[in-house]
Amino acid sequence: MVATGIWAALACSVLGLASASEPIHVPVRRVTHTHAKLGRRAVTSTAELFNAAKQGGYAIDVSIGTPPQNFSVILDTGSTELWVPGPNCPKSECFGSLFDITASSTYVGTNLPIDLVYGIGSDNGTYASDTVLVAGYTVKNLTFGVINSAANNTPPVSGEPYLNGILGLAFPNLTFAYQTGEGQYNPFVYALWQQKQIPQSIFSLYLGSRLIEGETGQITFGGMDTSKFTGNLQYLQVQKESSAPGYPDDYYHWTVLLRGLAVTVNGQTSSNLLTIASQQVVLDSGTTFTYLPYQAAQSIAQLVAPSATLSQGMYVVDCGLYSTQGNIQFAFSNSSTSSSSQSVIFSVPISSMIIPMDSTSIDTATQCVLGIIPTDASMGVYLLGDTFLQSAYVVHDFENYVVGIAQAVSSNATASGSSSSSGSSGSGSGGSSSGGSGTSTSSSSSATNVGFGKVLFSLALLGATFTLLL
Ligand SMILES: *[C@@H]1O[C@H](CO)[C@@H](O)[C@H](O)[C@H]1NC(C)=O
Ligand SMILES: *[C@@H]1O[C@H](CO)[C@@H](O)[C@H](O)[C@H]1NC(C)=O
Ligand SMILES: *[C@@H]1O[C@H](CO)[C@@H](O)[C@H](O)[C@H]1NC(C)=O
Ligand SMILES: *[C@@H]1O[C@H](CO)[C@@H](O)[C@H](O)[C@H]1NC(C)=O
Ligand SMILES: *[C@@H]1O[C@H](CO)[C@@H](O)[C@H](O)[C@H]1NC(C)=O
Ligand SMILES: *[C@@H]1O[C@H](CO)[C@@H](O)[C@H](O)[C@H]1NC(C)=O
Repeated sequence: MVATGIWAALACSVLGLASASEPIHVPVRRVTHTHAKLGRRAVTSTAELFNAAKQGGYAIDVSIGTPPQNFSVILDTGSTELWVPGPNCPKSECFGSLFDITASSTYVGTNLPIDLVYGIGSDNGTYASDTVLVAGYTVKNLTFGVINSAANNTPPVSGEPYLNGILGLAFPNLTFAYQTGEGQYNPFVYALWQQKQIPQSIFSLYLGSRLIEGETGQITFGGMDTSKFTGNLQYLQVQKESSAPGYPDDYYHWTVLLRGLAVTVNGQTSSNLLTIASQQVVLDSGTTFTYLPYQAAQSIAQLVAPSATLSQGMYVVDCGLYSTQGNIQFAFSNSSTSSSSQSVIFSVPISSMIIPMDSTSIDTATQCVLGIIPTDASMGVYLLGDTFLQSAYVVHDFENYVVGIAQAVSSNATASGSSSSSGSSGSGSGGSSSGGSGTSTSSSSSATNVGFGKVLFSLALLGATFTLLL
């Protein structure tokens, strides 16, 4: 696609010839208070119980400008753009610190709008570019959004870190700028790659335990950390998604193809619970829960927690199920016509899908829900959020459109390729995957402005709608 105007200029500003590059491992913090976008909009007694904000999100520190101004942002593989609150955002809408554009000598503003619409809120502002630092990396002239109006934010909780922004890590064609014809630009990881700051066009994500706060996870730009996973990485092609009629399918999200689901409990394995031949699902670190097709989720819940009750969209389960021995298996393949021997099967322990809602500790929780949410096709998208991704180590290759998935360390997930009889090279053995679900934010844009349909919706925030309006 031909970039236009300032976007062409920004896209071409490949600078920094940083001498060779080594991958840098950057800590990812788990925080219990998520960005305002994720916050509940109305506090009711059930909102307290099902406060998805308590499930937290995964944060990373970024610094923008010269001299640098710090922001703690959500690490979101379900969206593409970086944004932070700008100076004109009223305190009643943006509660955290604001980016002071006049204090940065490298700031370049534009009048080009950025408009992000989520399931429960929206943001708007303009695009700008500036120097952005993440861990040891410096990206010059990075394009990002400066938000000057935000709806449905939630005030910060005293004493807790406040997230004020998002760092999106999905594909470039998902940006508001591209989708509205403003042009194309290189989002953060692409800029890192183009500015030759990383040795490989990959980033690898390890979330760590959801039962711990603090620096539980790690993201590695330009490489991977073999100490964070066990077994072999199993590779899967990222799937193109359809957008609007007349437009070719394209890469927007870290979408993989789900071919089957099964539950093993008490030593018995169910038959395939996915009632359709295949389903695209999005790996989304910016979403807390995992959103699966309604019927499949129902079947899983019946096997895992026969007495579960569906309340306000979630399965309320006995916290004691945490000690269940068993797992939920996700089978993936590269195409809907692959034989089952060409599948990668990733197993998530049932214990990691029992989510405490009234405590950060499963031991003291009295209210729990299943980490899988039954999702109607009308949502248009299914997500593998944090309840899935916490068991996985995922290597994202953004030039070759593949993901490598393995079992994360300190999870009891297992990954395996199915036995292959067809000689397909694909499956080897082992496999795993990850996904994320949950609350959160991701960027996307208003569907009313352009004709791209579902890809314009914020995946993560759609998740938030489900989990937060309880
Ligand atoms: C973005 O979309 C254009 C036009 O459909 C396509 O040619 C290009 O390959 C896409 N870029 C990426 C990175 O997917
Ligand atoms: C911003 O973050 C950097 C890196 O963590 C730190 O060294 C610096 O002190 C922070 N600056 C402010 C103003 O907090
Ligand atoms: C960044 O972009 C600005 C304006 O687009 C340009 O003047 C400047 O030289 C660029 N910086 C670098 C380091 O290329
Ligand atoms: C964004 O902009 C539109 C009009 O330009 C405005 O009506 C809206 O309130 C703004 N704010 C949000 C949060 O969408
Ligand atoms: C993994 O399994 C071992 C042995 O069954 C158990 O002791 C450990 O607590 C499990 N770890 C997690 C994170 O569930
Ligand atoms: C899927 O495709 C990737 C890239 O071509 C390949 O490495 C992998 O082995 C394939 N996986 C399966 C399960 O066929």
